[in-house]
Amino acid sequence: MDGNGRWAKERGLPRIKGHEKGADAVKACVEGCGDLRIEFLTLYAFSAENWQRPKSEVLALMNLLERFLKEKTPELIEKNVRLQAIGRLTDLPEACQKQLHKSIEQTAHNHGLTLILALSYGGRLEIVDGIKSLLHEIEQGHIDPAMIDVEMFSKHLYTRYYPDPDLLIRTSGEMRISNFLLWQLSYTEMYVTPKLWPDFGKEDLFEAVNEFSRRQRRYGGV
Ligand code: FPP
Repeated sequence: MDGNGRWAKERGLPRIKGHEKGADAVKACVEGCGDLRIEFLTLYAFSAENWQRPKSEVLALMNLLERFLKEKTPELIEKNVRLQAIGRLTDLPEACQKQLHKSIEQTAHNHGLTLILALSYGGRLEIVDGIKSLLHEIEQGHIDPAMIDVEMFSKHLYTRYYPDPDLLIRTSGEMRISNFLLWQLSYTEMYVTPKLWPDFGKEDLFEAVNEFSRRQRRYGGV
């Protein structure tokens, strides 16, 4: 969800106003996914690297996240959305963790869209955590290293319950992956739009999905 800062700067506003507008844009995207009967939507809301931002911006983002979860959970329930989260969630402030787990619990029985928030998430960290988890199982004698393959490793990632993404949408024109789902994006189709995240609406989502539907996926074959 890139471009919140630039959106605010263009209007002479503080960066947090861009993040607030970005949080509003989440609603349209979730609704659009519902309209399209999309099963999984993962939003890169806060990266492991984002902790390096000025303290005031980090604090404002954490407050925004907590407020968003508190205010929007009834709407998620109404729309049959199941909330999930990936990342080093224990890095988040305690109040934020509490609200996150509450929202996850309250939406656990929904069976429409699964909305996954990537929070304090880093793709490399996820792979390292996956290796640690595998090593632990080897130490316990539960698995033989010779049995490790792609499928088994995938089961040790934060995303073990979800399929790999079909489509990655990057807003604000940046041509980077920025440490997002490094393992899972192997065969994901990429779509880059110059639109800044706060301006990304339902129609933009439909356009991205429309273009995706015209792509030919070969997975390395012919
Ligand atoms: C990147 O834009 C955006 C973020 C680091 C935060 C994204 C957070 C939200 C949209 C709101 C909170 C999330 C939820 C789910 C309520 P940037 O700040 O790097 O923008 P820039 O590149 O233009 O400076």
